Amino acid sequence: MGKLDGKVAIVTGGASGIGLATVKAFAEKGAKVVLADFNVEVGQAKADELKAEGLEVSFVQVDAGSEESVKNLVAKAVQLYGKLDVIVNNAGIGSLGEMHELSYDDYHKVIRVNQDGVFFGTKYAVQEFLKTGGGVVLNTSSILGLVAEAGAYPYVASKHAVVGMTKSAALQYAGRNIRVNAVSPGYVVSGMVNKEALGEFYDGLVAKHPIGRLGNPDEIAHAFVFLAENDFVTGTVVPVDGGYTA
Ligand code: NAI
Repeated sequence: MGKLDGKVAIVTGGASGIGLATVKAFAEKGAKVVLADFNVEVGQAKADELKAEGLEVSFVQVDAGSEESVKNLVAKAVQLYGKLDVIVNNAGIGSLGEMHELSYDDYHKVIRVNQDGVFFGTKYAVQEFLKTGGGVVLNTSSILGLVAEAGAYPYVASKHAVVGMTKSAALQYAGRNIRVNAVSPGYVVSGMVNKEALGEFYDGLVAKHPIGRLGNPDEIAHAFVFLAENDFVTGTVVPVDGGYTA
């Protein structure tokens, strides 16, 4: 029996890519997982597929950028499974374009999901953890939370913020049995990143990873499992990036 056996976890952005792989990895370790996503159709279908494989997964719709919606998500998870042990604040969206041409709305659309979403998820999960005596917050940052890249100003800003938020919350709650960590993935083949969507840019991205390929979602999920299970790790950001930031 592993440490995730019987634990209750929420994964936001759980319908696709890194989130979906994390839902699966946690459920395969015996966790009861709430697959939370904005996309009802795909989210429900993925949860049903995993249930059919014998895993304990339920779908709940969430808009990670809305405080009310995230509050409701945490309440629903507790209602469904009686408690909450882990939240993975993973929902995120990308951004493209030159900074001086972005409207405030373009900028804030990304901050709202990628940064505010981590604040809301952490806040409401921690409120539960304080009642029950502990828990784990896991955040998806990015290599672009550690280094920058031109043309992704709001995304880089939001992912750097996630690093600071992870460390700040970790220090705040370290003495109360609440651990907070993040993973910073390199480019991972997913809904946002694939050869079809990126065309001529795909090979250039591969070249930035010394290991000579992009990552796959399971490799990121594996890091989340490690961080969920290891009781001595807090306030850290684990790069899983094929050497991108080395
Ligand atoms: P994806 O596009 O495959 O999946 C993202 C999921 O989030 C989708 O199911 C989408 O419906 C959901 N979502 C979007 N907005 C939402 C909202 N407001 N509320 C709830 N759900 C919402 O993305 P991927 O690649 O798996 O990304 C997951 C996380 O990993 C993101 O935070 C992303 O920034 C981060 N990341 C991804 C990298 C990559 O190369 N794919 C690299 C580094 C970080």
